[in-house]
Amino acid sequence: MYKMEHYEASASAIRAEIGEFKPKVAMILGSGLGFLGDEVENPVFVDYGKVPNFKVSTAPGHKGRFVFGTLEGQKVAVMQGRMHHYEGYSYEDVTFAVRVLRLLGCDTLVVTNAAGTTRTDWNAGDLMLITDHIKMFSESPLRGENLPGFGVRFPDASWLYTPRLQDIAREAAKEQGVLLREGVYFYNYGPQYETPAEVRVAKMLGGDAVGMSTAPEVIVAAHCGMEILGFSLLSNMAAGLQEHPLSEQEVLDAAEAAKGRFSGLVRACLRKL
Ligand code: HPA
Repeated sequence: MYKMEHYEASASAIRAEIGEFKPKVAMILGSGLGFLGDEVENPVFVDYGKVPNFKVSTAPGHKGRFVFGTLEGQKVAVMQGRMHHYEGYSYEDVTFAVRVLRLLGCDTLVVTNAAGTTRTDWNAGDLMLITDHIKMFSESPLRGENLPGFGVRFPDASWLYTPRLQDIAREAAKEQGVLLREGVYFYNYGPQYETPAEVRVAKMLGGDAVGMSTAPEVIVAAHCGMEILGFSLLSNMAAGLQEHPLSEQEVLDAAEAAKGRFSGLVRACLRKL
């Protein structure tokens, strides 16, 4: 179990690299979406490997570093790559960075991922605003001793994805002429993609998208009082809804194809924060 001093030690190590710079908006970039980190102005890079208590990201398309700098006038701390439970990391490890970013001053989290969609009336390549999530079949990242310095033992989860920020995203999408679906993200810890039967269950339970990330980090970010904005790139139709087997390459190709729309949408949101 990590204590406050572990999070503080990691924050101090990062401060030693970034000096007086105080980020406001934390951004976690999912599979194939890390390119947005390369658009940051006056970037200072900090590899996860240089930060005590940090795990490395091993997933494809995840660089494993922070980029601190400015994007659309916002002071950002971008995570080019995240940690996943399927990499063998505990939920505490998966979400460690979120608390560190909170200590560094971030009060907003923009979280992104690639996901499959259960919706046959939507298309692979669509973008989705995450309005809520389902993560009931795996343990909570808040399991264990509560650290009151971050939040309460039993945090409310009625509005994990901040309504005000959702409105900003809707406005930004309209402005950009980008089709933005809205739906519920159904967390599955992977690394195998879902079976078609699991996709039917996810859909029946209200999941519009299925994916292997995001929900743990969002729970921890909300616990420590951050406002949250979440986007899924619906890289593929979920298992059972397309003719060919799913592959990581398909996900990365979809992210590549969505670059312009995704970047335009996120940047427009940043301007409105
Ligand atoms: N399922 C789970 N995770 C994913 C998918 C999917 O279909 N696509 C991209 N990440």
